[in-house]
Formats: sequence, structure tokens, C-alpha cells
Amino acid sequence: MYLRPHRVLQKINTGRPRLITLFKALASQLLGLALTVALARMSPDFFHGAGRLTVTQGVAAAICSIILRQPYWWMPIHLLFLPSAIMLLTLQLPSWLYLQILLVFGLVFWGTVKGDVPLFLSSTAVADAVASIVNGEHAHAFADLGAGVGSVAVPLAQQQTLMVEAWEHAPLPWLITSWRCRKLPNASVKRASLWGCNLAGYDVVFAFLSPAVMVRLGEKIRREMLPGSVIISSSFPIPDWEPEAIIQIEDRRSTRLFCYRL
Ligand SMILES: C[S@@+](CC[C@H](N)C(=O)[O-])C[C@H]1O[C@@H](n2cnc3c(N)ncnc32)[C@H](O)[C@@H]1O
Repeated sequence: MYLRPHRVLQKINTGRPRLITLFKALASQLLGLALTVALARMSPDFFHGAGRLTVTQGVAAAICSIILRQPYWWMPIHLLFLPSAIMLLTLQLPSWLYLQILLVFGLVFWGTVKGDVPLFLSSTAVADAVASIVNGEHAHAFADLGAGVGSVAVPLAQQQTLMVEAWEHAPLPWLITSWRCRKLPNASVKRASLWGCNLAGYDVVFAFLSPAVMVRLGEKIRREMLPGSVIISSSFPIPDWEPEAIIQIEDRRSTRLFCYRL
């Protein structure tokens, strides 16, 4: 459903550097541990079991995270971190399993630790809506910036009506998209940063990224995209830009597509 153009609805959080977030998370855990050790020394009789120690460490870490002004969703992570680690240790799983899980996570969430956008997948309804915009625009060239596993790029390429370029820097999603596009001559999957691509050649660009990068993305679009071309941003508006349309998708996340014309 197309809505009438109107002013951007949300105030945007432009995001804080992720390294600070990581530092705060680590500091909360360590402070929680230090507090627990200090309490255990003061009253060893009360803290003689591992259960009370881990619960106290979790609660202390969660309180420290509030003091350090971490977002509230970190609280359950701090509460459960040590108990989960201890529970996993009791399962006596082979150590290579942890290494493998770490490797897979690294290959999927490639740049997330240093602040890049993690992998979330668009729904089929989003892909359908993007396809109908692309068709309505009679577009010849389309780019998906941060293509993930190709949830949007692959169905569009399968239409065989336009050239699709998918930009993805995380190795595993890139590999999956490349495999899915292997028989589609009109699709090209680039294992490269979206910040390095030139947007000038595309009629329609799709991005499902994060509020933290929208200002930078807006600047790149303004510099590179040609007049008349369209940018569709899933879920996150470009701050201070007037969308030509906002499309409400009826999927699980109630996704909104913010459509801008240069
Ligand atoms: C929220 S997911 C969206 C995936 C896909 N576009 C979709 O709609 O299903 C964002 C994707 O962007 C990728 N990404 C994040 N920063 C990137 C960058 N600088 N260059 C290329 N890809 C990036 C991530 O690896 C992730 O796969």
C-alpha cells in the first residue's frame, strides 16, 4: 500500500561506536566478577556454592551495565552469560565445537564486531514489494547493498528482466548468494564493501542496513545516484530526507520500505 508522502516519522539514533559498546560489556562482566569475589571474601559461608556465585555475578554485571548506560537489552545477556558458560562447560562438549561455532559466526557476522550491520533477512513480502517497484520503474539495473543470502537480490534476478548486482562482504552469505545466482547470467555477486561501490549506474538501489549508517548512506546516494533513480531503504529512513512513498509490508516485522527519488 502506498501512503502519501510525509515527513520522516522517527528521530534517528545515529549509533555509537560499537567498540565502546564492547568495552562496556566487558567492563560490566569484569566488574560483576570483581564485586562477586569481594562479596564472597566478606561472607564465605553464604557464597559456598557455585549457584549463588554465578547468580550474584550475573546480577552485579547487569547492574554495572545499567550504571555504564548500556541499552536495557544487555541486561538479560549479562544475567545469563556466566550461568550459560558454566552450564556449557558441564556438558563437556569438545573444544573444536566452540571453535567451529566461532568460525561460522565470524563468517556470517563478518564486520559486526567493528560496527558493521549484522545479517537479518528480508521477508518474501519485502522481495515482492521491491520487485513491483522495480517493474513499475522499468529499471534496467538494480543493486542490493549488503545482500545477505540474496533474499531480495535472487528473486529479482530470477525475473531475468534486469541486471542485478549484489554487494556483500561477509564470506558465508556472499557464498550462499553466489551459489543461488550461479545460473543467472544477469546477476553479479560482489564480495566487497558497499561503501566502495559506485551507485551511479543503478536505476533502483535497495538497502536493509541499520540506523547507524543511514546518514553516511544518504551522503553517498546524494553524491553518486543519478536524478530520477530510486533508493528503497528497508526499515530505516534516511534522516531528514523526504520519502516519496512509505510502503507498509504485512510481514512478521511489519516492515516499512522508505522509498526516495533523487
Ligand atoms: C540486515 S542484512 C540485509 C540482508 C539482505 N539485504 C536482505 O534484505 O535480506 C545486512 C547485510 O549487509 C551486510 N553488510 C553490512 N555492512 C556491509 C558492508 N560495508 N559492505 C557489504 N555488506 C555489508 C551484512 O553482512 C548483512 O548481510
